[in-house]
Amino acid sequence: MHKNLELKDHTEVVIREMTTEDLDPSLAFFESLSEADRAYLRRDVTKREVVERRIAECGTGAARRLVAIVDGRIVADGTLELSGEDWKEHVGELRLIVAGPYQRQGLGVLMARELYRLAIAASVEEIVVKMMRPQIAAQSIFKRLGFREEAVLPDYVKDLEGKRHDMIVMRCDIDALWREMEDFLSTGDWQRTR
Ligand SMILES: CC(C)(COP(=O)(O)OP(=O)(O)OC[C@H]1O[C@@H](n2cnc3c(N)ncnc32)[C@H](O)[C@@H]1OP(=O)(O)O)[C@@H](O)C(=O)NCCC(=O)NCCS
Repeated sequence: MHKNLELKDHTEVVIREMTTEDLDPSLAFFESLSEADRAYLRRDVTKREVVERRIAECGTGAARRLVAIVDGRIVADGTLELSGEDWKEHVGELRLIVAGPYQRQGLGVLMARELYRLAIAASVEEIVVKMMRPQIAAQSIFKRLGFREEAVLPDYVKDLEGKRHDMIVMRCDIDALWREMEDFLSTGDWQRTR
């Protein structure tokens, strides 16, 4: 897939699947993130071997990854993870990161929409997102997109500095998510990006 879209501030963006060519641009993207945004990621994505592994996972079917490109640079990264286990084959996990200068321009929503399309194509019926308590923007966007908080595991995960935080699990079925997305994109004068 290769989508040409426009953000709220009219920045032109391409959303496409990640490829093996994206190793160096991905590293540059993760290094450009603020410490605050990077602190709550699951893995230390400033390490080359970690980013290599992320890209390799795309070839195994365990993850589908999308990148958003502006002027040749990666500005957002989104993942749909599929567990591959029979008992969870109907569930996908979604992860999303947008570079600071491009936040609040609707890119997170556009990335989520393309990840939903991948989820539907993979026969996913339900999507979960997991985040740490301080990830306020993440809780806001996923609530806005129809997810509900399902569970809180107190002090369950550690940030990159080793500090423990509650892990919040949110979930929603894919049909409801698609309806919320359509509503979201049809409000305001931002419909041109559809
Ligand atoms: C969470 C994140 C992906 C949102 O991306 P984004 O491109 O800024 O989101 P959008 O512009 O599409 O926002 C859509 C809606 O979500 C809500 N939202 C997003 N960021 C918000 C914030 N900081 N505070 C409050 N609401 C917010 C708003 O309702 C917003 O709509 P509005 O701008 O019309 O009010 C981004 O903030 C990010 O990468 N954070 C760091 C990494 C992270 O926490 N990832 C989630 C882990 S799964």
